[in-house]
Amino acid sequence: MIYRKAKFVDIEAIYKLVNHYAEEGLMLARSRNALYESLRDMIVAVDENAEVIGVGGLHVTWENMGEIRSLAVDTAHSKKGIGREIVRELIAEGKELGINQVFTLTYQDKFFEKCGFRVISKNELPHKIWKECIDCPKFPDCNEIAMLYNE
Ligand SMILES: CC(C)(COP(=O)(O)OP(=O)(O)OC[C@H]1O[C@@H](n2cnc3c(N)ncnc32)[C@H](O)[C@@H]1OP(=O)(O)O)[C@@H](O)C(=O)NCCC(=O)NCCS
Repeated sequence: MIYRKAKFVDIEAIYKLVNHYAEEGLMLARSRNALYESLRDMIVAVDENAEVIGVGGLHVTWENMGEIRSLAVDTAHSKKGIGREIVRELIAEGKELGINQVFTLTYQDKFFEKCGFRVISKNELPHKIWKECIDCPKFPDCNEIAMLYNE
C-alpha cells in the first residue's frame, strides 16, 4: 500500500469513493469543483494495482488548527488499518505546518477514538467552520459528533 499526496489523476476515484458514502448519508457530498479546490489537502491510499482505495484531507481552518475532511476507505478494504494510517499521515503533515489541533465532525466516533481523538462540544470550535455547514442539507439539524486531537 502506498500513501501519497493526491494528484489530478485521482480525482474521479476520489469523487466516486466520497459520493458513494455521501449517498448513504455517512459524509458530506463533494462536487468535482470542491475536490479540485482541496486537491492539495488530500492524501490517497493506493493499492498494488494503482487503484485509489482510500482518501482523506486536512483542511487548514484557523491558527494552528486543521479539519479532517472527506475521509473514506473502500468497503472492500475496511478494517485493515488504512483509515487510521491516512489520519496519522494527515496529522503528521499538519504538524509540519504547526497544526497542533486537528478536529473532525463525524458519525464514526469509535474509529476516531482509536485514532486518539476525543469528543468535544461543538462550541469549542471556531465560528468560522460553520460557514460550510450552512450549505449542508442537514443544517441546522446535524447530529455529527465534534472530535479533537491535540498533543
Ligand atoms: C471510517 C472509515 C474511514 C474507517 O476506515 P478503516 O480503514 O476501515 O479503519 P481502520 O481499519 O484504520 O480502523 C482503525 C480502528 O478503528 C476501528 N474501527 C474502524 N471503523 C469502525 C467503526 N465503524 N466502528 C467501530 N470501530 C471501528 C477498527 O476496528 C480499528 O480498531 P483496532 O485498532 O482495535 O483494530 C471507513 O469505515 C469509511 O470510509 N467509512 C465511511 C465513510 C465515513 O464515515 N468517513 C468518516 C467521515 S468523517
